[in-house]
Order: sequence, then C-alpha cells, then structure tokens
Amino acid sequence: MKALVLSGGSGTRLRPITHTSAKQLVPVANKPVLMYGLESIADAGITDVGIVVGTTSREIVEAVGDGSDFGLTVTYIRQPEPLGLAHAVLIARDFLGDDDFVMYLGDNFIVGGIVPIVKEFEANRPDAQILLTRVSDPKSFGVAELDEHGKVLRLEEKPQSPRSDLALVGVYIFTARVHTAVRRIQPSGRGELEITDAIQWLVDNDCAVQATPISGYWKDTGNVADMLEVNRLVLETLPGGLAGRIDAESEIVGRVTVSAGAEISGSRIVGPVIIGAGVRIVNSYIGPFTSIAEDCRIVDSEIEFSIILRGSSIEGVRRIESSLIGRNVEVTPSPRAPRAHRFVLGDHSRVQISSDHG
Ligand code: G1P
Repeated sequence: MKALVLSGGSGTRLRPITHTSAKQLVPVANKPVLMYGLESIADAGITDVGIVVGTTSREIVEAVGDGSDFGLTVTYIRQPEPLGLAHAVLIARDFLGDDDFVMYLGDNFIVGGIVPIVKEFEANRPDAQILLTRVSDPKSFGVAELDEHGKVLRLEEKPQSPRSDLALVGVYIFTARVHTAVRRIQPSGRGELEITDAIQWLVDNDCAVQATPISGYWKDTGNVADMLEVNRLVLETLPGGLAGRIDAESEIVGRVTVSAGAEISGSRIVGPVIIGAGVRIVNSYIGPFTSIAEDCRIVDSEIEFSIILRGSSIEGVRRIESSLIGRNVEVTPSPRAPRAHRFVLGDHSRVQISSDHG
C-alpha cells in the first residue's frame, strides 16, 4: 500500500493564522499538523509516500525533506493548479500504479492515527474506505447520506442543504478502481474535480464503498476554541522531558516538555505544557495546556490554556488565557503609560482588554 498526501492550497481562506502560509503547517503542540499525518502513515506500515504540492511547495519541501525523518520515502508531485482532489489522483497515476493507497489531506488531524482504519480496509478490501464524522457546519464539507444499515447512498460536496451532519474526513483508502472514477467525472461548480464525485461514481457503479464513523477529528476552520482543544488533546499524550536549561529558582510541575536550547529562569510551569527550542521564560507562570513555539520570549507574564506561535514576545501581561497568538507578535506594556492603548494589529486580529485596564 502507498500513501498520497495532499499538501497543495495556500490556506488563504482560513483565519486567523494560516493566511500567510501552508495550511498543512499549522502547529499543534509545536508540531505542524502535516507531521502527525506522516507519522500516522508510517505507523500504519506504509513507506512509499507521494506528496502533492502546489504554490506552497517550497515550505512543504523544507519541512518534510526526503521523508527519512519519518522513515518514509517521499516523492513530490507538482500540481500546477489547484484543480481538485480527484485531479491530484489523476496526476499521481504514475506514482500510484495499481497499488491500493491511503489518500490523506495534509491539513486533517485524526486523533489516534490511521492504523485501525488501514486494518479495517485490509480485512474487507472494499474499493473505497471513507471516514465520517459529525460536524456542526456540514455545508463546509463533503456530506454523506447513509441508509439505516450504514450503507452509503449519496455523497455531496459542500451542499447548500446538507442531508446529514456526517462530514467526509480527509482520509480515504482506495483500490486502483478509483482511477477509472476520477477519469469519468466532470468538474464541479467550483471548477474542481471532486474526490467526493469520484466516490459517488464508485457508489453508482456498484463498487464497494465502506463508511466508518470516527470521532477525534480536527481541521483548522479558523475556530480558535477547536484549535485550543486539539492542542490540549495532543499535550495530554506527550510524555514530557526537560532538555533545556532550568534554573534553581524555577519549578516544573507535571508533564512539561522543555526543548533543547530553551531557558527558563525564576518561573513556575505547570503541565501539560510544551516549550520550543530557543524560548526564554523569565519570572513567569505558564499553566496547563499551553504550547509555546520556538524563539518566543515570555517575561513577567502569566499564560494558561493558550497557543503562542514562533518568535513572539510577551512582557508584563497578567494574565493571558484561552488565547491564540500568531508569529512574531509583540505584546508589551506601554512605557510610562498614558491611559491609552497603542496597537499594531494584523488583519482579522481580535483583542479583548480587561475592563480594569480599559
Ligand atoms: C475537502 C473535500 C471534502 C472534505 C474535506 C475534509 O474539502 O472536498 O469533501 O470533507 O476536504 O477536509 P476542501 O477542504 O478541499 O474544501
């Protein structure tokens, strides 16, 4: 079995943090979401992986390289234009040959990985294995309609009036029959060859399409609460480990990961927490379910249940909770403050100021 990982698309539609880079590289617990996908593919015993890349190919290649860090052999396949997921299968035909393959959308996160689903496919070997999950906004997904026995009746891409709240998760397993399907379908209203339509073609042509419900699914739809929640779930699974420098005045409680090259002084850190390489934490409190990415600087501050992305600096803020802070953000007290705030906030920023400072 091979894997085809889709990492095209620029994520321009997503807010608030992915509009400047590849959506597959949004970090969860300091690691890009794409890496979890690649690890779960390796865990399933698959080594031969094609990665379809588009305009953000440079960033993806820089992050993944030749795949050897994951025990994978990666072949990059260039999709010149974002013409759809089924189009990606079309252009990957030489790579895929007649092998069964997992198609994995690189911005999707499956808690617990894909080993059980690959096993299920191998036990039954349907022509297509799909995963479904209940969502609150089915209009943003491919949506499945099942009969009372769980058999797939109909699949619709981003329907105006969804027939169910069962969304297609972006992980599929196919036999080579999908190659016939992707050649038979026509572009959708949004001008793309939809994998959803290819699977519908399989259903209509009496191929076996097996649907498995899952929970523990996440993708970045711009919902900060969801992002904090998946960050929390992943932090819960990390074993912790202290590789950075921690001074005698600091206290570390619970499962805390301090990466090599991080420095912590005069601070209290209560896990689960991850702190990236090159981070400096001085006279601060970092509370549970917080991820602080590489090269951040946290001084005289308190942060809990939050995600801070690379290169940001926070000084003199008590306290920050349930927050998502992007890359290279600076939060500082104003010097000898006049009673006014000064902001330089990027597009779509959201700031809540506590009223006693307002
Ligand atoms: C794609 C699929 C959709 C699926 C979704 C999951 O949508 O077309 O059926 O539910 O991925 O991530 P896209 O994100 O490309 O709009």
